Amino acid sequence: MPQTVLVTGGAGFIGSHTCVELLKHGHEVIVVDNFSNSSPGAVEAVQKLAGRPLPLHEADLRDRAALDAIFAEHEIDAVIHFAAKKAVGESMKIPLEYFDTNIGGTIALLRAMNDHGVRRLVFSSSCSVYGETPKVPLNEDDPAAPTNPYARTKHICEQLLGDACARYPELSVIALRYFNPIGAHPSGEIGEDPNGVPNNVLPYMAQVAVGRLAELPVFGDDYPTPDGTGVRDYIHVVDVADGHRVALDHLDDERGLRVFNLGTGSGASVLELMAEFASAVGAPIPYRVEARRPGDVPALIADAGRVERAWGWRTTRDLAAMCADAWHFQRLHPTGYSASPTV
Ligand code: NAD
Ligand code: WQD
Repeated sequence: MPQTVLVTGGAGFIGSHTCVELLKHGHEVIVVDNFSNSSPGAVEAVQKLAGRPLPLHEADLRDRAALDAIFAEHEIDAVIHFAAKKAVGESMKIPLEYFDTNIGGTIALLRAMNDHGVRRLVFSSSCSVYGETPKVPLNEDDPAAPTNPYARTKHICEQLLGDACARYPELSVIALRYFNPIGAHPSGEIGEDPNGVPNNVLPYMAQVAVGRLAELPVFGDDYPTPDGTGVRDYIHVVDVADGHRVALDHLDDERGLRVFNLGTGSGASVLELMAEFASAVGAPIPYRVEARRPGDVPALIADAGRVERAWGWRTTRDLAAMCADAWHFQRLHPTGYSASPTV
């Protein structure tokens, strides 16, 4: 059944891809974003791709009056809540900003939902809630042990969502713990466009490939992994987006909070990812091995079984597609959304 869905952070990397999937499947979508880590260009690109309008409210999620006006204007059936600050390193420098935006934003949203009778929510959580665990793969019952303020905000949000569900039994909440989303829409029209120097490996590599950065720093080649570099469970952003579309359909299966990993269940090392990306580019990626990045773990891989058992859903796009699509976007938009295509 088509639903009217409010997407917070809908101009961001995962939000924009999710909006395309929802619009393509007949849902009405409304975006709220303050563009603190994105640009209106992403929303324009989504509308163009989907061939449908995407009403946009430029507002901060912590602005209750703005939220009330949005909930009053639209008959919202469900909310997908992406809006948050997401850089681990930055969260150690400005932890209170992270608590304010990520937890304060979630509380403001829950209050507005409650006041306007909206009972259905999909929440962006993260594999970072698992922390430094030696166990691979990780399933949802493994203990959470966040090791930085960003990860703590996600864990606290999961806990406060659980408490809200206990108090308001009519609430239905699905928290999706994404592993490492990369890639872009295969059209090349939307993709990852981080502000400043990228923190994450794939956007960094992509900017090396277009000549914006000189070489990729590989953070450590002495991990206990097959080639010594860090192993992660990379998941195509369109699979992540599709997971949200399917989650919406399952919100009514049961009330309360449910938690699911979103990953592929298999890992790739930094060198394997780089080789795949170089083959998409058709040229080697210059790199140099550096010291380990503080806080990094050798390997993080999802046990992707719960979501498959519950919904029969699994990812369908492999590492080659992730790299080809990421490169397609970067090649068409070497400086992101701020410039028009040059190739
Ligand atoms: P992103 O930064 O591209 O998107 C977040 C969006 O939220 C941006 O458009 C930003 O402008 C907006 N936003 C931030 N604070 C806001 C506020 N106070 N009010 C309104 N809008 C605000 O990030 P993303 O990669 O698309 O991540 C989306 C969600 O998924 C986040 O909650 C993130 O923590 C979570 N997540 C991301 C990853 C990842 O690797 N990208 C992994 C796991 C979880
Ligand atoms: C991946 C691998 C690095 C950059 C982060 C967040 C996590 C989640 C996903 C939000 C590691 C190596 C990296 C570089 C490198 N996000 N690397 N050179 O750290 O696994 O996860 O994104 O919830 O919370 O922590 O992702 O892309 O930064 O690193 O060698 O320039 O690439 O050491 O092995 P990470 P990443």
